Amino acid sequence: MNILVTGGAGYIGSHIVEQLVKNKKNKILIYDNLSTGRKMLVNKKAKFIKGDIKNIKLLKKIIINFNIQVIIHLAGCLNISESEKNKKKYYKNNFIGSKNLVLACEKTNIKYFIFSSTCSVYGNVKGSVSEKKRANPKNYYAFTKYKCEELIKKYSSRFKYKYAILRYFNVAGASNSGKLGEVEKSHGHLVKNLAIQSLRKNPIVKIYGDNYKTKDGTCVRDYIHVSDLANIHIKSLNYVKNKKKSILLNCGYGVGYSVKEIVNIYKKLKNNVRIQFKKRRPGDIAEVYSNTNKFNKLLKWKPKHNDIKKIINSAINWERKINTV
Ligand SMILES: NC(=O)c1ccc[n+]([C@@H]2O[C@H](COP(=O)([O-])OP(=O)(O)OC[C@H]3O[C@@H](n4cnc5c(N)ncnc54)[C@H](O)[C@@H]3O)[C@@H](O)[C@H]2O)c1
Repeated sequence: MNILVTGGAGYIGSHIVEQLVKNKKNKILIYDNLSTGRKMLVNKKAKFIKGDIKNIKLLKKIIINFNIQVIIHLAGCLNISESEKNKKKYYKNNFIGSKNLVLACEKTNIKYFIFSSTCSVYGNVKGSVSEKKRANPKNYYAFTKYKCEELIKKYSSRFKYKYAILRYFNVAGASNSGKLGEVEKSHGHLVKNLAIQSLRKNPIVKIYGDNYKTKDGTCVRDYIHVSDLANIHIKSLNYVKNKKKSILLNCGYGVGYSVKEIVNIYKKLKNNVRIQFKKRRPGDIAEVYSNTNKFNKLLKWKPKHNDIKKIINSAINWERKINTV
């Protein structure tokens, strides 16, 4: 199939492309404005076009010229704190950009649309959350993602595509191939931050909030290895294709780790890191992890990399690699 991957030069997108190109029948087109993506993450077996999803004309032209049948849409901004401060940027980039992409599907051969959403659309939940839970976004980033979900659903019957909406939990780690990992530092991801600190003489980690009503007062999250998440995209695409049914799925392992627990695992693996406690970040949820029942039932998929120590270690190794070449 001819597959367009927006945001394919980014962290998660590049891992998806790494798995898609293994099937020689697939032709992959990466569309990315390189705002937080990197040329070094662009797969050589894919075609790369530098472009912005805010450019609807270019999107339309590409979808038609390359006879695209599948869209895997990851392009977007993802910093929760930034989204609270700069709503306009998130509205334009995440919502208007995605709207352009959906509208560009009209009268084309697009049959399947996979969208990267987030567990933060659920808002203030406590503990395990299933897809049945009504979305109630509490920060602007999550709000834009939820609006995109609604849009993709709304146009699905009109433009005759099936969709898979994937609500990622916290993505971490790096590919076993050693070729891919997270490069962008601005997203404020805990595991990436620890990996950065692993190269410092006096490592420090900031913990935002230690008075949440959780097991140790720090936020609890469900960490999924990026290669497992990438694989879920392939499985979801096969599902919507074979069953001819759209799906909405949580993507997590169903296990919650607190920030302190992650830091303690890191300490055992690497070095003693000084903890600096900071105020809570606006928009952060206390505790969320995935209920995996629907996921297990529909995809019948087993994770390969669900070992938190290995996840953290792979991020550390990747950090060392990109800082020594
Ligand atoms: N990393 C996580 O933990 C996580 C969790 C939930 C959801 N997500 C979603 O997954 C997607 C990918 O995130 P990531 O972690 O790989 O981050 P990333 O920053 O590495 O990837 C985003 C990519 O989109 C590109 N991009 C941004 N705006 C664009 C635009 N207007 N036009 C074209 N390209 C544009 C960037 O250059 C980058 O390559 C995002 O949509 C994000 O919201 C990520």
